[in-house]
Amino acid sequence: MGFSFHWRWLSLPLCLLYLVSGVRCDCTLNNMEIEGGNFTLTNELNIGSRLIYKCPEGYYPHPALTRLCQLNSKWDPLPKTYLRQQCKLVECPDPHVLEQGTVLPAQEKYYVHNRTRYECYSGNNLRGSSTRVCKPNGKWSGKTPICSRDTGDHCADPGIPAGTTRLGNVFGIGDSVKYVCQENLFLMGSEKRVCQEGGQWTGIEPSCYYKYTYDTPLEVSEAFGGSIRQTLTSLDSSENSQEGRTIRITNNGTLNIYIAMDMSESITAEDFEKSKLIVKKLLTKISSFAVSPNYEIIFFSSEVNEVANIMDFFGNKKKSLQSIIEELDKFTTDERSGTNLDSAFYTILEQIALIKQETGENFKDHHHVLIFFTDGGYNMGGPPTENLQKIKNLVYMNPVGEFQISPRDEYLDVYIFALGAEPYDETLKPLAVGADGEHYFRLENLNNLDYTFDQIIDEEEVKGLCGLHREYNLDESSDSRQKMFPWLANIFIKTRKCLGSLVTPKFILTAAHCFEFDDQLKDISVQLGILENGAREVKNIILHKDYNVKGRENLGVSEFYDYDVALIELKDAITISTNIRPICIPCTKETSEALGFVGSNTCKQQEQRLLPPKNEELSFLTASALEKHVIAKLGDTRESCISHALQANGITTTNPKDAVTDNFICTGGRQPEIDHIACTGDSGGAVFKNYQHRTVQVALVSWGTTTMCSSGEVVDSVETSRDFHINLFRVVPFLKSILGNDDQDDYAPLEFVD
Ligand SMILES: *[C@@H]1O[C@H](CO)[C@@H](O)[C@H](O)[C@H]1NC(C)=O
Ligand SMILES: *[C@@H]1O[C@H](CO)[C@@H](O)[C@H](O)[C@H]1NC(C)=O
Ligand SMILES: *[C@@H]1O[C@H](CO)[C@@H](O)[C@H](O)[C@H]1NC(C)=O
Repeated sequence: MGFSFHWRWLSLPLCLLYLVSGVRCDCTLNNMEIEGGNFTLTNELNIGSRLIYKCPEGYYPHPALTRLCQLNSKWDPLPKTYLRQQCKLVECPDPHVLEQGTVLPAQEKYYVHNRTRYECYSGNNLRGSSTRVCKPNGKWSGKTPICSRDTGDHCADPGIPAGTTRLGNVFGIGDSVKYVCQENLFLMGSEKRVCQEGGQWTGIEPSCYYKYTYDTPLEVSEAFGGSIRQTLTSLDSSENSQEGRTIRITNNGTLNIYIAMDMSESITAEDFEKSKLIVKKLLTKISSFAVSPNYEIIFFSSEVNEVANIMDFFGNKKKSLQSIIEELDKFTTDERSGTNLDSAFYTILEQIALIKQETGENFKDHHHVLIFFTDGGYNMGGPPTENLQKIKNLVYMNPVGEFQISPRDEYLDVYIFALGAEPYDETLKPLAVGADGEHYFRLENLNNLDYTFDQIIDEEEVKGLCGLHREYNLDESSDSRQKMFPWLANIFIKTRKCLGSLVTPKFILTAAHCFEFDDQLKDISVQLGILENGAREVKNIILHKDYNVKGRENLGVSEFYDYDVALIELKDAITISTNIRPICIPCTKETSEALGFVGSNTCKQQEQRLLPPKNEELSFLTASALEKHVIAKLGDTRESCISHALQANGITTTNPKDAVTDNFICTGGRQPEIDHIACTGDSGGAVFKNYQHRTVQVALVSWGTTTMCSSGEVVDSVETSRDFHINLFRVVPFLKSILGNDDQDDYAPLEFVD
């Protein structure tokens, strides 16, 4: 990464050691210390190594952020004895640009954690934030305050962001405003904005960055998440009535995503693994949107390494996400010398040209999203400006030789994630391409990017997808746990309690044994999640027709729980949100998508993927959404697992299969690991498995051999205790007959696969 040297082999690899023995080093550590901080070196004191200063949060290194060991064995920039290197307090851009108002308190400079208040002169209204705090990344919190009076202009006053000067004070249709940043700051966002007919300004509000300003993961996720989500969800817009960025993407792969990761020199082995992880996370996140894009994935230094070739997605040979991820895992390289950013752009240009050749007339429907991670330094191949222009011409379908602004600009997005302590903004910023301008991000490092990508799916637009959930517990709060298990239902029947799972907005799946013969509908209520106040009313209870608890009394099984499954129909459909959304269930089309199946597939394939005949990790919950972990004994060990059923009260048969039919999954015991055991109130709850960000319910908690605990506890199994769960793959006809029933008008049916 960065400015590096392909003649690096000239330098001595263990320079720091040689220093001790008096051998000449390329650069020296004389005068390199920093007051209040410290530094790291990317390649010891060798030529091409970068020294990166570190300061505590809220401080930045001054006057240099980094120094580079040059060919002449001198640092660039050279340390100056009269300007000592120190950690200085972070400042925020000048807020006194506010018109028709005042900033309090009035200070010449505003430092980190300083708070400001904004008041408008009389006759003006304040839009934006009335107080703002200077954040440790050099930005003001909140929104730009704007004082304006209603002048009847077509567009609202676009304001003057801190640190900028605005040219242009009329806001009629077609009028434009331009911004420049004050000294030592550079502009991010739109330099020029035009008032449009609809009363909106083009582009996005600019902001001024210091050299040390970076984007926090939250800021990145808001901007990148919002933007890429728009691309990924627009395939739903079948009515296609929205204007602007409604993209004509169909589900069958007219979205092409190119991911390019810079991994030259200064990338350590750890960073390299991290960047692979980031790419994986991005891929799986995108797949959770139920689109199946075509992917090109490259890692570049002086050479371009192609991990996934986009042409493998065309024709009949459609690749699966799983195989890309496997290739990504396998991928290693020692090639770290030099940086040829242009060759990465050139590779992508070639691939787009090939796609055009392959798809002919249909090329016009192809959307291209380029995502670059790089610090923008290059020492080979020159700047990629020309190849980027060629990519634009190709995608915009510009007539040869003409560079007009094209109405096809929604077909190309180039996102740039600038990495490192001192990215080459001048090179990188102009490479970002997107209708709204916010496609350039400055990251401190790769840390927390996975968190960033997580934020992308936690959003309204994809809320209907089954099994989506948040994967990490932010703060142990119940709100946080709710987002991890948004399908959890508590069921109350008189004084009894059961668990269930939301499987569609209208239905809860639970165990049949939760209900007794004389229960009335009015005795039953459902509470979704652990946060909801108030219960939902029930319209109907449907038990599996073959459920018959006394069915095998004659065989010595006093309570027989085969087909222990029921569906509760709610009176009113649930409003789906990020806190409450359905879980995926077997053999539906949506589950196929969640599992990343490409093309047509069967119920059998889903079962093979989710419940292969071996020991398989599964989970279920307590009423307060604590997770219990178990190993389902699906292979050779099943027989010995179910043999413990004979120890349960009320079982006198000598054949465990009389009580535990093939419809049950067996868990419990302490081999091969100590399983958790189900407690009284866990009945009816989902036994589930997470598959790439989606949760699929594979079974439901039915009965166990011993009562070891009451509701709400997480308890370890003893050697002989066992639980038995209804395998949902064995009750698909029942699920389908109700949830997939399209002969009624009450609810939208689920689509099942064969
Ligand atoms: C360097 O600074 C970082 C952050 O201020 C700190 O965590 C680290 O311990 C420091 N290292 C040394 C060797 O002082
Ligand atoms: C602003 O921050 C500086 C540095 O921390 C501090 O000395 C000063 O008192 C702060 N000003 C206000 C008004 O809080
Ligand atoms: C993609 O799907 C659309 C409609 O579903 C169909 O008309 C088109 O032929 C498909 N394209 C390809 C390349 O399969």
